[in-house]
Amino acid sequence: MSHTCRIELDGKSYDFPVVEGTENELAIDVSALRDRTGYITLDDGYGNTGSCKSAITYIDGDQGILRYRGIPIEQLAANSSFVETAWLVIWGRLPTPADRERFRELLTENQMMHESLRSHFEGFPPNAHPMAILSAMINAMSCYEPGIMEIEDDTILERAAARLISKVRTIAAASYKMSVGQPLIYPRTDYKYCENFLHMMFSIPYSDYEPTPEVARALNLFLILHADHEQNCSTSTVRMVASSGANMYASCAAGVCALWGPLHGGANVAVVEMLEFIRQSGMNVAEYVSRVKAKDSKLRLMGFGHRVYKNFDPRSKILKEASDQMLAGMNINDPLLDIARQLEEVALQDPYFIERKLYPNVDFYSGIILRAMGIPLNMFTVMFAMGRVPGWIANWKEIHDDPKSRIYRPRQLYVGSTLRDFVPRNLR
Ligand code: SDX
Repeated sequence: MSHTCRIELDGKSYDFPVVEGTENELAIDVSALRDRTGYITLDDGYGNTGSCKSAITYIDGDQGILRYRGIPIEQLAANSSFVETAWLVIWGRLPTPADRERFRELLTENQMMHESLRSHFEGFPPNAHPMAILSAMINAMSCYEPGIMEIEDDTILERAAARLISKVRTIAAASYKMSVGQPLIYPRTDYKYCENFLHMMFSIPYSDYEPTPEVARALNLFLILHADHEQNCSTSTVRMVASSGANMYASCAAGVCALWGPLHGGANVAVVEMLEFIRQSGMNVAEYVSRVKAKDSKLRLMGFGHRVYKNFDPRSKILKEASDQMLAGMNINDPLLDIARQLEEVALQDPYFIERKLYPNVDFYSGIILRAMGIPLNMFTVMFAMGRVPGWIANWKEIHDDPKSRIYRPRQLYVGSTLRDFVPRNLR
């Protein structure tokens, strides 16, 4: 395999190195392209551009492969917990019992919010969007944690990571309680991560919510599947902010904002809204699919398609199975699940979707599970963010630990007005 790429430009030849990843992916290193040729590359949406080398997550979009630190997502989904997977994603190896105990204690130690932060919640209107609250509160939290501004070693980083992972859960539950006018519920020390979240969400002062093992397991699974996903829009945003030297909380708060969009993490809300629309309209799914396919249609089959997966998103397969099991176990008959199954069946046989390699992604079935847990629709993307925080931290750490890391500063191709003079107001 030749390890250079030759480019001919204006009658001259230029050789650029080809670099190979541990899974035999190949990339042309164009970091010297402009200096040597005066040209830049142009790649709208970065579909062909690697922004970094990373050792955290590997995806093979054609084979439908997803691995965190080399471990297949199917094995983590079947055997691990969200806290253990979060530790793996951040530190690059499965935690020993001592690691797990230390991290568990850090999560417990940091699960409360500073009481002064409660006044921030009172400042939000009751209908404030939980993603706006989450992003704002992550930055607000950092004001109470001066230590995270300078992370000198892994001990401080582990503490800062535990604080963020633990408090995001508390903030999410608190934003829900504020929105429904219920008092905030304090975490319990005898509950694990997921059970405690459900307790803080659904307990009321005179009646404790008892999370069942099935629901806690489903929440662990949901969060494991969302923990990281290489250079998706929000993770790339975290890296962009981190590359300027910004602290972990500022970088993750920016990630929350990017995740909010309906084409990204907001899709899990859009999927349920789409299914609900089909149900209430009484339209059959074939009719809806034909509307999506119609020329100049702006409609998209939400929860379908992916920039990287041109085959099944492995997470979608796991979530589909889990939603079947969970609803059967809870004896819930959710009509939206039936509609989702019908949509998938119709779309997977339709040339429009087959030609474009559009398959269900992580968001297609995740909402069914969240509904069965009783999570309100406007909290779905917050749940995605809760799961993705370890991946954001791991990517922030990769930049923070890399002495050669440079600020992200892409170039552009200017297509605006050429040189022209200022025109005085009286002559315009
Ligand atoms: C997530 O990147 C990640 O890893 C993200 C994520 C993660 O874990 O972080 O996996 C999470 O964000 C999953 C994606 C959630 N979004 C949705 O479900 C929204 C619906 N899907 C899309 O809008 C779309 O598929 C994207 C945004 C996911 C991907 O968009 P691309 O790669 O830019 O694809 P495209 O817009 O260029 O579409 C290519 C063609 C177009 O048709 P033509 O112009 O060729 O005729 O496919 C069509 C699109 O119109 N198309 C769809 C479609 N997705 C693409 N048509 C109908 N329904 C869809 N869902």
